[in-house]
Amino acid sequence: MGFKKGFLWGGATAANQVEGGVFECGRGLANVDLMPHGKDRYLVGTGKKISNHIEKGVYYPSHQAVDFYHHYQEDIALMAEMGFKTFRLSIAWTRIFPNGDEEKPNEAGLEFYENIFKECRRYDIEPLVTINHFDCPMYLINKFGGWRNRKMIDCFVKLARVLFERYKGLVKYWLTFNEINMILHFPFVAAGLRFVGDENPYQAMITVAHHELVASALVTQIAHQIDPENQIGCMLAAGSYYPETCRPEDYWKALCDDRESYMFIDVQSRGYYPSYALKWIEKRNASVPFIEGDKEILRENTVDFISFSYYSSRVSSACPDKGKQTESNIFASVVNPYLKSSEWGWQIDPLGFRITINELYDRYQKPLFVVENGLGAKDTIEEDGTIQDDYRIDYLRKHIQAMKDAVDEDGVDIIGYTTWGCIDLISNGTGEMEKRYGFIYVDRDNLGNGTFKRIRKKSFYWYKKVIESNGEQLE
Ligand code: BG6
Repeated sequence: MGFKKGFLWGGATAANQVEGGVFECGRGLANVDLMPHGKDRYLVGTGKKISNHIEKGVYYPSHQAVDFYHHYQEDIALMAEMGFKTFRLSIAWTRIFPNGDEEKPNEAGLEFYENIFKECRRYDIEPLVTINHFDCPMYLINKFGGWRNRKMIDCFVKLARVLFERYKGLVKYWLTFNEINMILHFPFVAAGLRFVGDENPYQAMITVAHHELVASALVTQIAHQIDPENQIGCMLAAGSYYPETCRPEDYWKALCDDRESYMFIDVQSRGYYPSYALKWIEKRNASVPFIEGDKEILRENTVDFISFSYYSSRVSSACPDKGKQTESNIFASVVNPYLKSSEWGWQIDPLGFRITINELYDRYQKPLFVVENGLGAKDTIEEDGTIQDDYRIDYLRKHIQAMKDAVDEDGVDIIGYTTWGCIDLISNGTGEMEKRYGFIYVDRDNLGNGTFKRIRKKSFYWYKKVIESNGEQLE
């Protein structure tokens, strides 16, 4: 028993949170480059404050991030030292197509990722590539209104085709869109969506989501045509909802909240909009902008596996003015009194991880890939230069144990596990650097000071043993 042979242990990142080098190799401007540090970040991310260009005097943490752009060889060597079997990273769309609608791709951008993939292969690390982790070219946002326009499908398909052709034999595992349900919660970041006037925001979000779903299905089809070895996954910001009490109304609310999360990956996995989703959309005076052929495309090109992020479970209450809410990942929930929280108010629930895994497997009966899990915490460098991050080890140990229980006790098929931010990176939600997830510390602070020096934390050596023992040694 235990994790199967070849289980893909590793870590995960996203281009805009690690790379930096925003103006290198002819890269164009993207929505994620306009996410400031500080109080405006949430407003820009939700599309409530419009930002069209880089403003003087504003600090944008992703512009340098942790400078993976110049450090990738050193970083991949450190991952190899931990024994990584896989490394999840994303493609910055504007490195490949700086505006998004050019005829030809930017060779310098393609080379950058090719070098990374070759570096991974040198160490037998399987790249896991998110084609779109929250990037959208600003040129396309200004020209078309981003994903609300169907023309985006062509631009995205062109990007994906270039990637599949160029990296054939180097990359096999692909995710189309990171956390597709984030469209409903952080629309400018998730899909470059900004609301105009007094439009119905639900119509805008459903239009955007439908275009991404069709694009995802087309890209899945092309990936399989170009290389039958390609494996394509959808990606969900997961975390099951518990009812606050056993009042039937609370249970019903929890079920509805879960469905709001599942809605889009139901389409990617089963090939059609479920009836509850169509009703959800109708009740919000919106409709799915189907055109002829869409239904067939969705039906015939479902994903090969289900990937997801899990940080915490959530709680639903039927009581509309329910008091205290958690700070959790963008979309808040009612506080669970039985759980402890991280320094950022995210509630810690390893059993909730096993529950979420089981729910996803029951629902889809496709292999699962856990592509984000971890604890964002402040780290201190001791006088002797070490970082004793026992709190992170504790979080990960309990979550890996819960995942192991799901495999051993419940028989779930899991392909791999990548911890979020295996190397410290910029927080998506807050833009902070000091909310650290990594096994590898990066000397950089919230205001952009620091040398970018990399330091191995205590968890680095712990995770190395976990991987070496294929998840048997968790102490
Ligand atoms: C996920 C995203 O929602 O959560 C990541 O895919 C993000 O991009 C991660 O970084 C953790 O959230 P945060 O706000 O702590 O960075």
